[in-house]
Amino acid sequence: MSSTPKRLRSTQWFDNPDNPGMTALYLERYLNYGLTREELQSGKPIIGIAQTGSDLSPCNRHHLELAKRVSDGIRAAGGVPIEFPVHPIQETGKRPTAALDRNLAYLGLVEVLYGYPLDGVVLTTGCDKTTPAMLMGAATVDLPSIVLSGGPMLDGHFEGELVGSGTVVWEARRRLAAGQLDYDKFIDMVAGSAPSVGHCNTMGTASSMNAMAEALGMSLPGCAAIPGPYRERAQIAYETGKRIVAMVHEDLRPSKILTRKAFENAIVCASAIGASTNCPPHVIAIARHIGVELDIKDWDRIGYEIPLLVNMMPAGKYLGESYYRAGGLPAVIGELIRQGKFHADALTVSGRSMGEENAGKRSIDADVIRSFDDPLAEHAGFAVLSGNLFSSAIMKTSVISEEFRDRYMRRPGDEDAFEGRAIVFEGPEDYHHRINDPTLNIDENCILVIRNCGPIGYPGSAEVVNMLPPDALVRQGVNQLPCIGDGRQSGTSGSPSILNASPESAVGGGLALLKTGDVIRVDLKDRSANILIDEADLAARRAALTLPDLVNQTPWQEIHRRFTGQLETGAVLENAPQYQRVAERFGVPRDNH
Ligand code: FES
Ligand code: MG
Repeated sequence: MSSTPKRLRSTQWFDNPDNPGMTALYLERYLNYGLTREELQSGKPIIGIAQTGSDLSPCNRHHLELAKRVSDGIRAAGGVPIEFPVHPIQETGKRPTAALDRNLAYLGLVEVLYGYPLDGVVLTTGCDKTTPAMLMGAATVDLPSIVLSGGPMLDGHFEGELVGSGTVVWEARRRLAAGQLDYDKFIDMVAGSAPSVGHCNTMGTASSMNAMAEALGMSLPGCAAIPGPYRERAQIAYETGKRIVAMVHEDLRPSKILTRKAFENAIVCASAIGASTNCPPHVIAIARHIGVELDIKDWDRIGYEIPLLVNMMPAGKYLGESYYRAGGLPAVIGELIRQGKFHADALTVSGRSMGEENAGKRSIDADVIRSFDDPLAEHAGFAVLSGNLFSSAIMKTSVISEEFRDRYMRRPGDEDAFEGRAIVFEGPEDYHHRINDPTLNIDENCILVIRNCGPIGYPGSAEVVNMLPPDALVRQGVNQLPCIGDGRQSGTSGSPSILNASPESAVGGGLALLKTGDVIRVDLKDRSANILIDEADLAARRAALTLPDLVNQTPWQEIHRRFTGQLETGAVLENAPQYQRVAERFGVPRDNH
């Protein structure tokens, strides 16, 4: 590739002879901790390290260590590293939900990348929303950018069982409800799933979104699956640092990598790995910020038919270490390329194509990473449903258990549909308060519905849709009921969960019209979900509908509610996608003095 094509952006701060006054002012403060004029004025690329780790963000915390190896790599390649903090986003720690903070961290990153003397950036990612937030910001500003994920935690164990992040909570709660665990054992079992630094070790949102980053071409090949504590993790941190300096010289920016083909690759990968239901909104958000058309229905069209190849919890049985040893994402992409399902010509941050990087890669453990001949499940993508309850919602049909199919979906001529009586909860508090209320008469023919949990209602969309049945039903062996909601879902259950319903109830979506006792029919064949009600009754309910009074507790909640859209379109700040290729389009901002 060519050498430096143009003057570095950072020289407009640090070495501008036309404006010595401002140059001195920009320089002197970055000298005050020991950087030298030679470093800042000799045309070395200045590389930001967007630090998402902190004590508040345990899933990403070891990026504080990894950043040292990134810096070593940047130095070795002739760049100057400058590390800066990113607004923390901790999935398990932030109330009311970390989803509220994705767009806030995005906004912050855009301002930093655009307003400071940076020529390129290493995006440290890991915990769920950190990955999309960083990619969304990089997409908007369009400086050379590369993802360094932190990697999953080591595999978790509890009393001889393999226990994985998130999924363990479901099993532990089931055992607690069934009286098989006491409170202390319950906590021990859940904590057993988190044995080291790193992000969730299941194929939850963190592993999924870091796989999305790699499938999009935004990280070095093989990066996503390396467990956080492994030496290979620190080694790829070093390589990532080296590579970003070359990317600056090559002017290799996100807009050259994040093409429509890259997004189609991400969708196909999502199915093959059994990715989290959070991927569609996050990936659509990234697409919107780079200006690529990507519709929620594309997930069904492109991804539905792809089989599940990765045998990892929650859909399968292994965790991150086995997955990494079996070959990680390159083995999956290699198989997708052999099957003609993947755009091998899509570019990656390495400067080489997906095909050049992954074409020969194969699984070295055929049980952990399967082939198309022996998948874990067929049709592993998301079905996108619509009807009078919502304009879209997604569902992973591959996780529907045989038990559920036998009970509800084996009627001759109607094998793809089920019906149930709706039990409506106004939010997770209402669910916890009333789920064991015997007057609700919840039986195995019910569908649990939760509303007011979308981006505007909650605020930030909460992961609350998969709800356990009442304790009494669990004791009878009914561990799952179908669930529907305008929030998101954490993990997977064996019953159908219909999630991310858009538009949400709080803005007048169809779920707002639903009443406990209504019958809902879900038909997978025609991708529909409807309240069985006649048009006139539905219209009358709509006319009588009053939207809930939403109380903003912080200034950001108010701004978020004013600007954020629905999950089906990525829940982005709706004023933001019009800002594209900001660094190129506007040059550097005005001087600050
Ligand atoms: Fe942070 Fe899962 S909670 S990665
Ligand atoms: Mg989560």
